[in-house]
Order: sequence, then C-alpha cells, then structure tokens
Amino acid sequence: METRTLPANPDALTEAAQLLHQGKLVAFPTETVYGLGGLAENLEAVRAIFSAKGRPSTDPLILHLSQPDLSLASADGWVASPLPEAALRLAKVFWPGPLTLILRRGPKVHPEITAGLDTVAVRCPAHPAAQELLQKVGVPLAAPSANRFGRISPTDAEAVRQELNGIIPLILDGGPCALGLESTVVNLVGRSPEILRPGAVTQAQLAKELGQQLVSRQASLKKHEVQPAPGQLVSHYAPQTPLYLCEAPIKNLSPGAFHIFFRKSHQPTGGKSFLLGAEGNLDSAARELYRALRKADSSGAKKILIEPVPEGAWAEAIRDRLGRASSGTAHWDGGAWKFFPKEKP
Ligand code: TXA
Ligand code: MG
Repeated sequence: METRTLPANPDALTEAAQLLHQGKLVAFPTETVYGLGGLAENLEAVRAIFSAKGRPSTDPLILHLSQPDLSLASADGWVASPLPEAALRLAKVFWPGPLTLILRRGPKVHPEITAGLDTVAVRCPAHPAAQELLQKVGVPLAAPSANRFGRISPTDAEAVRQELNGIIPLILDGGPCALGLESTVVNLVGRSPEILRPGAVTQAQLAKELGQQLVSRQASLKKHEVQPAPGQLVSHYAPQTPLYLCEAPIKNLSPGAFHIFFRKSHQPTGGKSFLLGAEGNLDSAARELYRALRKADSSGAKKILIEPVPEGAWAEAIRDRLGRASSGTAHWDGGAWKFFPKEKP
C-alpha cells in the first residue's frame, strides 16, 4: 500500500475523514504524540489498528472525542452514566488536553476496543488538526500512538512514516508535537483515583482539582504477569539500541555510544551526543526525548547513555518512559563504564 503524507490542511482533513468512514486508518497529529486513528464504531477498522501496530489484543485503545463535554459522550453511549463527579471536574479543567480518563464503558463501545474490559479510556485532544478531524468525522476515533507495538511513539510525521510506511494510506502532517510524551492516564473506576501513566498533567495538578492525593501505579510488571491494568509492562516505548540510565552526570564518554545530556554545560565537543532542551528546561526535554532516541537508533551507536533527569514538572513522566525504555543502568567507576542490565521482562 502506498502511504501518502499530506499537510493537515482542510482538503487533506476532508479526505482523511472520507478514508476513516470507509474503515481505513489515518495517522494524525495530537499535542502529545501522533495517533493512529480508526472509526470507533467500525469493528474492521478497530481490528486493523491492532494489526497495523502488531499490538496484542489485550492492550486496549483510547477513544478520542471531538467535544470536551463528557456528558455528550455518555449521552451518545461511549461512556456509562452516571459519570463520576471527578471525571466531570477533570474534563472541565483539562480538556481539550493531554489527559486520558478511564471510565466505565458505555454500550456503544465494542469490547475489542477495550480488550474485553468493562472500562474505556477517553480523551479530547487539543491539537487543532485533531479537533478538526474529529469534528469532520463526527464519531470518536479509536487511536493508539502511531508506532509499532513496544516502540517509541512518533512525535512528527516523518517518525510516523518510519513506523507505518506501506501499512496505512494517509499520514496527516501537523508539524512536531508540542508536548512530545503521551497523555497522563487517570483511572477513575475504583475506590480512589490513580495515575496509570504520568504525563503533562501532573500529580500535583490532579490532586489540587480533586482535593485528594492520587495513587501512582508503578510500571513494575513483567511480560508473563497478568496485568491488573494494561500498559503496565516494564519494557515499553523502547529504542532498538540498548539504553542505559547513568547514575550521575556524564563526565566521560563511552566509546561508540550515543550520549544524551540535559545540560549544555555537561555536553562535551566530539562524540555522538544530543542536548535534550535548554538548561534545566524539561518542557523541551519532554518534547525532544523521542526524537533523541530515534536519532540515537539511526546513528549506528551500540549503546545509548542518558544523564539523570533533573527535577521539574515533567520529571516523573520522563523517568517513567526512560525506565521502561532502558536496558539497565550505567556507572563510571573512575576508569571505565560498567553496565548493569535490568532483569529481563
Ligand atoms: O497521548 C496519548 O494518549 C496518545 C495520543 C495518540 O492520544 N495515545 C496513546 O495511546 O498513547 P496508546 O494506545 O499508545 O496508549 C494508551 C494507554 C495504554 O497504556 C493502554 O494500555 C492504556 O492507555 N489504556 C487504554 N484503555 C485502558 C483501560 N480501559 N484501562 C486501563 N488502561 C487503559
Ligand atoms: Mg503507545
């Protein structure tokens, strides 16, 4: 199949909506990462998403809504009523935006979207092209990140092409994603709200709105363990080159490795390296992280070394993704680099 990339202008958006209504898949920009969309009410399209990604059917999809008003989604049967107060509150404050809510599944949601769970993930993205597309389509799009399963999420149209060229008919190019890491996922089904995936909307912001602390469920599961919630595998979001988390700032380069720095003052001249954002600015570090990992993958380096993540609003989300992407830790013992692989998932 030929894959075309078109700038996300009105004509391309109209064509994308037509393809989606025919049950085809379209990659589109969001403010977090690019999504691979299919019509949520078309079971063939939903199945095509899993097969295009090589994603196991046990890993559920997020429904992308055109309207930030959750009560519309529940009136249309996508989420169950009554809606929890907390959901209405968070949608009101953070939508459209980088927050995904886990709620009870409405009668309209096919169980294959949610991997058989009686809960469903919903989000209303803020990117103007995503909004226009969703409005033109008129029904929610099931859309995971537009990467092959287990790989790095794409944050620009070229990265989507690297992942899905020849597999989908159309990629809408809306430029580089403004945030660069996937949405915060909050589970509102159960006794108390919990964060399943940290992201742009932080624990502190959520706690402030809900008037209570949220539990953070750590990614700690190995592949063979039954997942109490999906997306909890330790190994995920991984580059092809082994990535090692350094225990201290990098003062000595490792021969043949690709080095990722958070501070310009740490970055040496020479050697393969990438500066993740400006001095101590985690916004640009989050935005650039996946691009840096892709660059490392295509650099021919045998290993990727990354410095410890500085404190800041994005620190939890960046550490979460790096923890899952990494093969282990690295330590400079005064004369040489030592590598400690993490337990195989
Ligand atoms: O920023 C984002 O959320 C991007 C853009 C495209 O919107 N989407 C995204 O989708 O990251 P995906 O499929 O790559 O990740 C969705 C995560 C997965 O970890 C999945 O397991 C989890 O949400 N999830 C989906 N439905 C769930 C449910 N019912 N219960 C618990 N977790 C769920
Ligand atoms: Mg993903």
